[in-house]
Amino acid sequence: MEKDIKLTIVHNDEEVVLEVPNDMGLNLMEFLNANDYEQIEGTCGGLALCATCHVRVLECSPSLDEQSDDEFAILETLPVIYDNSRLSCQIKLNKKLKDIKILIP
Ligand code: FES
Repeated sequence: MEKDIKLTIVHNDEEVVLEVPNDMGLNLMEFLNANDYEQIEGTCGGLALCATCHVRVLECSPSLDEQSDDEFAILETLPVIYDNSRLSCQIKLNKKLKDIKILIP
């Protein structure tokens, strides 16, 4: 059984590819915080209340679930959002996820 998620992070015109274990019980915001991506503040601690964990999902396999109404409402508080904008705290790094490519705005 595959235990890693391929995570590609695009930031400042650089692309980093990481293998992330799928059994750590983390969400993507927590993982990015732990790996010194300071742009991802995660001020509300992952409660979907602050939008400081905003990322754009460029590719994902399998596809993420649709945004909840609550997630969309918080994203709408940002000055600019895109069709692929998501709260990284709502993306679970679990065994359902295989491959994801994100852009940190
Ligand atoms: S950490 Fe606050 S909305 Fe994601």
